[in-house]
Amino acid sequence: MTKGSHGRLRNRNVMWLFNNRIRFLMGVGVLISLFVLAGKVSSIMGWHHHIYKLDSQERFTVLINTWRRPDLLKKSVQHYSFCPNVDAIRVVWSESKEPPSDTLFSVLLSSVKAASRKSTHNIKLKIDMHDEDNLNTRFKPLDDLATNGIFSVDDDVVVPCETLGLAFNVWSSAQDSMVGFVPRMHWLQSETQDRELPRYLYGGWWSVWWTGTYSMVLSKCAFFHRKYLDLYSNHMPGQIRDYVTQERNCEDIAMSFLVANATGGPPIWVKGKLFEIGTTGISSLKGHSKHRTACLNMFVDMYGHMPLVPSNVKAMDARSMWFW
Ligand SMILES: *[C@@H]1O[C@H](CO)[C@@H](O)[C@H](O)[C@H]1NC(C)=O
Repeated sequence: MTKGSHGRLRNRNVMWLFNNRIRFLMGVGVLISLFVLAGKVSSIMGWHHHIYKLDSQERFTVLINTWRRPDLLKKSVQHYSFCPNVDAIRVVWSESKEPPSDTLFSVLLSSVKAASRKSTHNIKLKIDMHDEDNLNTRFKPLDDLATNGIFSVDDDVVVPCETLGLAFNVWSSAQDSMVGFVPRMHWLQSETQDRELPRYLYGGWWSVWWTGTYSMVLSKCAFFHRKYLDLYSNHMPGQIRDYVTQERNCEDIAMSFLVANATGGPPIWVKGKLFEIGTTGISSLKGHSKHRTACLNMFVDMYGHMPLVPSNVKAMDARSMWFW
């Protein structure tokens, strides 16, 4: 081989490298322009990334169910009072013999006052005392409620304000439905024999996750209309409330039955993060699902039919979806 051909070869290699680098840079350039363009599509087309804000007149009440956990209650009130569209915070206090201490009350009040200063309106705080420690008390109708929408929540469940706002939007467009974040399902266990009612199994989170099917959202973290408080306490058959009192369980299933029977439709599950800040609760105890299954079948007998309606719908914020 001559020197010259070596040189040509080298030149060709250099050209090849050069071409590749050009191609690579062009590729990067195209990608960057695509990204820039994608970012501009909205403004070129005259579309707006509009953040839908509710009329500030539209608000809801946060109904916090608490029991002997002042630290959780403080955190909870502190969090929810700063969420937009909260009209009032009502605390279900089920031990009137031991009212909240002055220090606890003043801490709660100062959170609400601090939040009111940042808000367009005054956020109200009220502790509703109840004589009995009874699970039905969380659904007692409340005096001077100013809103139709109620967000019912346990003291150890924290839903970020943004997620809460999304669920309130969903509830606002379907005010008869229960709208929440903790879905559960009733599974048919055995078909009807003769004149007996079918038997059901309580389906926990894993069954919902696996099948994408649910028929209840739990009231430890859900929106519903205030009218259901009255229906639950004054119109639902008393034997259901008695059963809840005895079993110290299943008030949430009873509420799901009530709403399903009233509407003939399913609840709505909303996508969103939520944080459980307390120690693990009753649902992690052994035998929990057995109790829940027993409640389910007891309520079916009391209603004379199964009112729960399954659904596969999950509501989410369309702005957080990248493709479509
Ligand atoms: C279920 O709904 C029906 C029709 O609205 C009503 O008549 C009935 O009393 C309800 N059942 C219970 C147990 O609340």
